[in-house]
Parts: sequence; C-alpha cells; structure tokens
Amino acid sequence: MKLGLGTGSTAKHFVELLGEKVRGGLDVIGVPTSEATRADAERCGIRLTTLDEIDHLDLTVDGADEVDVRLDLIKGGGGALLREKIVAAASDRMIVIADESKWVEQLGRFPLPVEVIPFGLAATRRAIDNACTQVGASGELKLRRGKDGHAFVTDGGHWIVDAHLGRIPDAPRLARLLAAIPGVVEHGLFIGIASTVVLAGAEGIRTVERA
Ligand code: A5P
Repeated sequence: MKLGLGTGSTAKHFVELLGEKVRGGLDVIGVPTSEATRADAERCGIRLTTLDEIDHLDLTVDGADEVDVRLDLIKGGGGALLREKIVAAASDRMIVIADESKWVEQLGRFPLPVEVIPFGLAATRRAIDNACTQVGASGELKLRRGKDGHAFVTDGGHWIVDAHLGRIPDAPRLARLLAAIPGVVEHGLFIGIASTVVLAGAEGIRTVERA
C-alpha cells in the first residue's frame, strides 16, 4: 500500500508499529506529513516517497485534536496541518486514531489552528475574526509561539494563529470562509475528509465509520 503517515504523539505510535511490520516483511511506501514524521519513519526503516512521485495514496493514518459526530476534525495542534491536509486529500481513505477525550458533539473546544503568511498578519487576523463572527463564533486569536518566545514556524515557513472559540456552530461554513482569506494558507478544520475514526477509551476500542 501507499500510505500517508500522520503527525503527533498518536501517529508516532502508528509509525513505530508500522515499522515493526515492515521489518517483518510488509511492503508499504509512505508519504510523511512533517519533518518529524519523516525522521521517525526513516528511523523505523519505512520506505518513503513524495506526492510528486506517486499519483495517489491508498490510505492516510493520522491523529486529531477533536473529532465530532460527523467525523469532521480539528487538527494542527502539532503545527503540521497543511501537509496533513494535502496528504489526506490525496488519499482514498483517512483513518483517524484518537482517544475518547477528543470525541465531541461540536468542534471548537480545542483552539482552531489557522496557518497564515507572516506578511500582513494584523489584516489577516481581522479577516479571521470576521469569518468567525459570521458563523456565530468568537474568541481570542493568539499567534502561536515556540519555547523561545518567537513565533512558531511551520514546516512550510508560515505562522499559526490559534482561534480560541470554545464552540464552532457551523464548522463547514467557517472552513469555507477561512479558506477564502488571502493571508490564510490553510486551517485545521478537516471537513468530510476522515472516513473512519478509531477511538480508544476506558471501555475499550470503538470504530466509527462515516455514514
Ligand atoms: C499535528 O499537526 C496534529 O494535527 C496532530 O495530528 C494532532 O494534533 C493530534 O496529535 P496528538 O496525537 O499528539 O494528540
């Protein structure tokens, strides 16, 4: 299979377990969604390629920061949302692995990451605020900072604004509005992309399929 390899602490477990299978003879090739995952996959002996070298992916496996009952997601807590979305969109299927704490009725408790171009940040931030207001959501828009106090820089060289909204009444509409803002490169709303979610909880594991 041709696999998209997600990013984050959950996806890291998947990559390590996949590496065990590869060492046991499983024939897969992967496209990593971040430089961190690339390093992990290389360390695990997983053969890698790029989306320029293959025409599509069979499956992407990734984590998520929130999953709602429609299987729409918030992703990007780790800052890899742009490559994660490109890779997931190029895949026939996306399976999300998460724990039950990430399962919500309505998205928005987790701050929504919005990847932006540094140029014109204040104007972009106002446009993001306006988009949120249009869907009945509001909250602080914070520029994400790294441990050194400087703006966090993504693998693509962009910045991230985290929108602390609490609740997002109409996530599909907000996704469309954010995508139309010139300074926004991508946002962490994954609408209609995940096909299956595997949730781990105290009671065991349950699998939810897109209706
Ligand atoms: C990375 O940018 C994110 O989208 C992660 O996939 C998501 O934050 C889940 O990460 P954890 O598995 O570490 O919670």
